[in-house]
Amino acid sequence: MLSTERSSVMKAGIESMGMYVPRYALDLRELAVARGVDYGKYRQGIGQEIMAVPAPDEDVVTMGANAALRALEGVDRDSIRTVIFATESGVDQSKAAAIYVHRLLDLPPRCRSVEMKQACCSSTSALHFALASCALQPEHKTLLIASDIARYGLGSAGEPTQGGGAVAMVVSTEAKLLQIDPVVGYYTSDVMDFWRPNYLDEALVDGKYSIKVYKQALEQAWQHYVEEGGHAFSSFERFCYHMPFTRMAEKAQSHLLRCAGKCGGEEKLLPMIQSAQRYNREVGNCYTASLYMGLLSMLEQDPADLSGSRVGLFSYGSGCMGAFFSGQVLPGYRDFLNTQAHLDLLNEREMLSIAEYEHFYQSRLCEDGTAQELEVYAGGAFRLQGLRDHMRLYGERQNSLLTELESPLLSLGR
Ligand code: COA
Repeated sequence: MLSTERSSVMKAGIESMGMYVPRYALDLRELAVARGVDYGKYRQGIGQEIMAVPAPDEDVVTMGANAALRALEGVDRDSIRTVIFATESGVDQSKAAAIYVHRLLDLPPRCRSVEMKQACCSSTSALHFALASCALQPEHKTLLIASDIARYGLGSAGEPTQGGGAVAMVVSTEAKLLQIDPVVGYYTSDVMDFWRPNYLDEALVDGKYSIKVYKQALEQAWQHYVEEGGHAFSSFERFCYHMPFTRMAEKAQSHLLRCAGKCGGEEKLLPMIQSAQRYNREVGNCYTASLYMGLLSMLEQDPADLSGSRVGLFSYGSGCMGAFFSGQVLPGYRDFLNTQAHLDLLNEREMLSIAEYEHFYQSRLCEDGTAQELEVYAGGAFRLQGLRDHMRLYGERQNSLLTELESPLLSLGR
């Protein structure tokens, strides 16, 4: 095909998406009772109902590989030339999580594999780097994985906004879900609203300050998007936001309405964002994956056929960086989704008691090089099997049968 003909049919954007969430979760009604808090604060005040709780034999690598397995269904693995793993819960200071995933998924050796970090928004820079790569080599596809575990500490203000999960997507010039517009608005400012020093397992966060700088970053990124020639506010039918908790999307949308000079548009606020809130409300924060879980939720759960609709997306990473960008939902997108599989994933989780959740939370891997074999919990196709000589050992779950009698939760009185 001539290059001019080819470029006229090329659609750069998201070709496929897959999600993985841990097989265990905590109903926030239980947490409210245990912490002596009115459930209305969690349900209405912050907009969360259930939070995902990763099992001790899961980490960002296994969750990312499990999500990628679904995103790669129907995609020729030999066409993947780049794997970008976006996370702020990395398992190694040196080796990229992308390399473990590359091996677990048996991807071709002629492939580059890297990890990226900037709090919750490195996944968005990864998306734009992947699109730039498409422009240089249109036949090469990128597997982008966003995977994270949000931990704030037992009994902390951030506790009900924990969670974990992964979203993987194939970014290519054969987009079937969302074609991404070239204009992006950025904002960077050195602030300390949320961070995690190397020696801590839990993030440090000033939640109220973080909400303030999130809104500031949204306003500035939107203005930059407009200056760069982006679409007018009135051309958007849906918005997706980074959601540390789903109520944040409502605060953000309300703020953007004001920034865009739309007085009296509050009645349209919820219909523009609520389909994107659904999955996140039942999973909790998953940092880099949060915005894209919202996008997937919108594509899979919005009652309207969104073909041709323009979607505004805002990515926020504490510290901080914001990016506002947009895309157009492609006709026929519903044929390329995994809606039922994702609903099953959400609906078939095992609800933990508070004691079980705290046990999962407190489980630790050996840090002195001692060999450790991990108990087998319910999970996806891949799991962390153990440690040896400071190396993480990943593998398939299929030969590690989990039966009622073997369940590690039995030792906790199940
Ligand atoms: N019924 C309904 N709503 C209630 C309520 C009740 N019984 N009790 C309180 N609320 C509302 C409050 O009015 C408040 O609403 P507002 O935001 O509109 O003012 C909301 O619930 C939260 O209450 P608040 O007292 O502010 O909660 P908090 O001090 O426990 O903090 C967070 C909440 C979200 C700031 C905290 O969980 C946090 O820091 N989470 C981490 C956030 C994060 O990850 N940020 C960084 C990445 S962007």
